[in-house]
Amino acid sequence: MGVVKVERLTKRFGKVVAADEVSFEIAEREFFSLLGPSGCGKTTTLRCVAGLETADAGTIEIAGRPVYRAAERLDVPPNERNIGMVFQSYAVWPHMTVFENIAYPLRIRKVSQPRIAERVAHVLRILSMTGLEQRRPSQLSGGQQQRVALGRALALEPSVLLLDEPLSNLDAKLREQMRAELKLIQRESGLPILYVTHDQTEALAMSDRIAVMCAGRIHHLAPPEEIYRRPATAFVLDFIGSVTYLPCRVEARNGARVTLRWREATITVPSPPHVPRGPDVLLAARPESWRFVGDGGGLPGTIVLRSFHGSGFEYHVRLGETEITVMTPNDIRLNEGETVRAVVSEGLLLEPDALSRPEARAA
Ligand SMILES: Nc1ncnc2c1ncn2[C@@H]1O[C@H](COP(=O)(O)OP(=O)(O)OP(=O)(O)O)[C@@H](O)[C@H]1O
Ligand SMILES: [Mg+2]
Repeated sequence: MGVVKVERLTKRFGKVVAADEVSFEIAEREFFSLLGPSGCGKTTTLRCVAGLETADAGTIEIAGRPVYRAAERLDVPPNERNIGMVFQSYAVWPHMTVFENIAYPLRIRKVSQPRIAERVAHVLRILSMTGLEQRRPSQLSGGQQQRVALGRALALEPSVLLLDEPLSNLDAKLREQMRAELKLIQRESGLPILYVTHDQTEALAMSDRIAVMCAGRIHHLAPPEEIYRRPATAFVLDFIGSVTYLPCRVEARNGARVTLRWREATITVPSPPHVPRGPDVLLAARPESWRFVGDGGGLPGTIVLRSFHGSGFEYHVRLGETEITVMTPNDIRLNEGETVRAVVSEGLLLEPDALSRPEARAA
């Protein structure tokens, strides 16, 4: 049974439908992310779950208890929803020690002194910060300060943690480190997390499941690998990871494989879940699905740009009027201006106008 259950949640701001019939359920111990571009409605959805925003329609349940039901005008205030929250602009009190920061919500609730000491010690263990209780935030690193903010959210033993871009104020290196730490903290605490981010790398790396949002709607709700490999819509395909398109014509559909024509060349790929009806299609493929071959096969092209990515090279290759991106291991070193031949091992097929229709089916 879901710890958080959101059903057909709708929230409007004037004419803007910030959340449009949003539904999802978060399981126990699940790391669940809302992912999407700026303005797609992630924060609005999270704030509705928190009770900081009152929706216009739908229902919300937390730990088996209805906290919002539009039809019955039920709207439980945030402090009675048993949630822990951390936002982008996480505020730890600079004048309080680590201990006092984490104890603060417990003091407000008039929890007894021995119980506070016990609870703070437990939270510090989860955060791997035992021994730092007397420090002030100014004596901590950015990542440690962030953990204190998490600690405060954990203090009251919430049913769920709501995190809105909590890592976006950290520098790239620290952010990557905190991703792993956050996962470990979640394992230790055993809490489900509702995580909001516009950073797809972050969402792919950390989540058990992701709901990808576009203009207030969930386009795809699935585990990261499925979102990446079988994106439901053109929007999800384009938003997640890197992808390039090649306009082709369907030559033959023979069960397991589909044969495409691009200029004089033939391309054969495993049949994707969705093959548009018409003959004209866009072949969408990730950079790692392309590779270079020696003379004879593949599609002829010219390297226009090479960039080094440590573990590999990324090549922008001009193929007629379009450009594709090819990712190779770092021992395949070719020069800009060189002619190459490229083959693709798999891809998805879209309607030719799909890129102007975010909701167009992709897989
Ligand atoms: N208080 C508000 N008043 C009016 N419009 C709002 C309000 N809050 C959000 N909106 C609008 O609702 C839409 C969704 O906003 P929201 O903050 O949920 O987006 P988001 O996905 O969190 O974006 P970001 O990644 O930039 O944080 C946007 O069009 C936004 O302008
Ligand atoms: Mg936001």
